[in-house]
Amino acid sequence: MISAEQRLLTAAREAATHAYTPYSGFPVGAALETVDGRLFTGCNIENASFGLSMCAERAAVAQAVTAGCQRFVRIAIVAGTGPEPTLPCGACRQVLAEFASPSLECLLASLDQVDRVHRFTLADLLPHPFTLKPA
Ligand code: THU
Repeated sequence: MISAEQRLLTAAREAATHAYTPYSGFPVGAALETVDGRLFTGCNIENASFGLSMCAERAAVAQAVTAGCQRFVRIAIVAGTGPEPTLPCGACRQVLAEFASPSLECLLASLDQVDRVHRFTLADLLPHPFTLKPA
């Protein structure tokens, strides 16, 4: 029986194979699980105008929100090689904080080390997110 975590990691790994990375050569795949058990994936999509490049995590968020899902419980991010995980960038952490509680489970794995999963909560990664306070 395949676990929800394995399903998410496999989906992130598969998404990374679709990454468009002619400039960095650094594919990233992300898979989001929503509160109602749906799964959305994203890959990084680069652009010749470098600043327009899209991270995999935010591509997955765009897919989920477009489908009407705005609450996430878990994300898997697969990138890089070797024993250390690739951590999501600050912008992606802030975007995840918009749609998830601090307890969001973040599962990180390298492209070449399927069984080595690093676990963080969103609070670990972004302990002090920006929030809009009424004036
Ligand atoms: N990238 C992601 O997809 N997610 C992150 O959290 C950090 C970086 C992508 C952007 C770019 O295509 C490549 O990794 C190298 O920076």
